Amino acid sequence: AATKSYTLTISQATIAPDGFSRLGYVINGQYPGPTITANTGDTLSIKVINNLTEPTGMHWHGMYQRGTPWNDTQCPIPAGESYTYTFSTANQSGTYWYHSHYMSQYVDGIVGALIIENPSNPGPLPYDEEITIPLSDWYHTDSADLLSHYLSRASKGEEPSPDNALISGTGSNGCTGYVPPGTPCNANASTINFTFTPGKRYKLRLINTSAFGNFWFSIDNHTLAVVEADGTDLTPQYVHRLPINVGQRYSVIVTANQKHQNYYMRAQMDQACLDLGEVIAKESLALAPVVYAGGSKSFNNSVDWSDQLVDCQDLDYTVLRPYQKQAAPTAAEQITISWDFHGDPVTNINRAFINNVSYVANFSYPTIFNEYYKKPQLSTDQLIIRPNTSDYVEVLLINNDQNEHPFHFHGHTFYILGWGNETYDDAKDRPKFNTANPLRRDTSTVPGGGWTVFRYKADNTGVWALHCHIEWHVEAGLLVQMEDESWNIPKLAVPQSALALCPAGEYSSPSKTST
Ligand code: C2O
Repeated sequence: AATKSYTLTISQATIAPDGFSRLGYVINGQYPGPTITANTGDTLSIKVINNLTEPTGMHWHGMYQRGTPWNDTQCPIPAGESYTYTFSTANQSGTYWYHSHYMSQYVDGIVGALIIENPSNPGPLPYDEEITIPLSDWYHTDSADLLSHYLSRASKGEEPSPDNALISGTGSNGCTGYVPPGTPCNANASTINFTFTPGKRYKLRLINTSAFGNFWFSIDNHTLAVVEADGTDLTPQYVHRLPINVGQRYSVIVTANQKHQNYYMRAQMDQACLDLGEVIAKESLALAPVVYAGGSKSFNNSVDWSDQLVDCQDLDYTVLRPYQKQAAPTAAEQITISWDFHGDPVTNINRAFINNVSYVANFSYPTIFNEYYKKPQLSTDQLIIRPNTSDYVEVLLINNDQNEHPFHFHGHTFYILGWGNETYDDAKDRPKFNTANPLRRDTSTVPGGGWTVFRYKADNTGVWALHCHIEWHVEAGLLVQMEDESWNIPKLAVPQSALALCPAGEYSSPSKTST
């Protein structure tokens, strides 16, 4: 295995992904940032240079960070400084992504794809070429402004409505939506075009990098073979239209087997299942032409399959089956996590409460370093769950909110045993669990008013966030910290470079003697 090195320089820039010009963030000058690739087992060494006037910090979404948990929960990189994330990609392959986990920065552009290829595993279906396609909602207002409104009494808990939808960081209709007077907008902004060679098979790696929007993805007239979910290879499932929630990834294989002409690729934000507020139909759809090489330029036979609403959940977990069969191991411990949204008793501001605690980030005192130095927990606004086992743990997620929430677990892939959109009833629901070969992934939608049960192995020493990936909900407190092997955290070999990011004096002790 090799070491692959990258440098990502983060800076502020005026960008216009959909024609509307605004200040945003770029990585190495681009939005989305460059795609990082490695082969399974390689070590990635990624230097992040923070050229902003505020802190930042990168999260490698879906990476296990086994043995390097300080790369996942850390003090942010101060303005003007840099940090090199070094981690292994052992035992994983597939479609991942990276994004800032500092405040709502990723919404303004600090995102990119992270692809781990496994050359010795060709995957469930052959293909000729692969294309990575991030899908995203897009806002015309800086996320910090949206956030301060959202977290005020005035919002009444209503999330900011996206202004547009993007495919691979490009969109049209940017000027027909919200454009403050006097702001430059190019009505002729063009979207990405995909060229298909007739007969070829394309593997499309889809990543939903949104703040809020759940997408339906389709290509007119074409069937999609779904072969990967969040790094897990699947027995191919053939669909016309694929739901992909925030933080999730799918690979689909599509064959260029239609008449030689043009078809639309569509990423349609779901408005039936998620209250997107004011966003209007045209701006909730991103279109990108798929052009057959040498064909006619017409769209005459392009048949929109995007309006066949199926339901408000992920693809039914009972139909998605891992290609490499694995039964869910029995669990040594059970945990119940439930949440709802309501006004904070003191401020009356709408917040999320998870087991009655509304999470507030504390960037100066990350839990992992408190545990490392055996310091007492500093805040009561952070729920920390510490299983007593290194073995499998079963988690029952109970969603008392009426909207769905895409939950992502850092550092783990979990087995999804079941879900439902009614009150969980152990006697009735447990017998229906799929334990024989359940879907394994790292981000799963918990239906509105419903539940999800998953199992994971609590043996990745460290502190791992389990949270709704809707960025507004993270900031409203919908996050819990799951601590694997608390007893081993003080024994970690945390490098000075990670501790040095923290405010001087907090964790700077060069000689940690206890263990
Ligand atoms: Cu991509 Cu904590 O998330």
